[in-house]
Amino acid sequence: MSHIKRINHVAVVVDDMEKALSFWRDALGMELHELRDVPVEKSQIAFLPLEGSEVELVMPTSDDSGIARYLAKRGPGMHHICLEVDDIAGMLAQLRTKGVRLINEEPRTSADGKKYAFIHPESTAGVLVELYEL
Ligand code: CO
Repeated sequence: MSHIKRINHVAVVVDDMEKALSFWRDALGMELHELRDVPVEKSQIAFLPLEGSEVELVMPTSDDSGIARYLAKRGPGMHHICLEVDDIAGMLAQLRTKGVRLINEEPRTSADGKKYAFIHPESTAGVLVELYEL
């Protein structure tokens, strides 16, 4: 049985990074660890780490990305919550047996070696859920 370990990060879609940072960094006082362009996802991401988790602000840098379409359709706001698991393949198998709708049937691997997969909001009370195995 695979287990959820912690909330790894929460991702928020923004349409104006500086405006978003004026709240998250300047008003709340969270540390901006890195502002990174991620060309493969056609987005810019701000990483604001906390102890054991992180807030990520995601801004599309092109109109033809998935994140840009999301922003156009729903406006800025909460995008997904990411849960860290000890065994992502095991968790996906477990979810499949429960009839949960998955976006990624198999784990994908990010550039920095993390395994991840998304679960469809239809099965999660409306929240896009990402799973991570580090
Ligand atoms: Co994420």
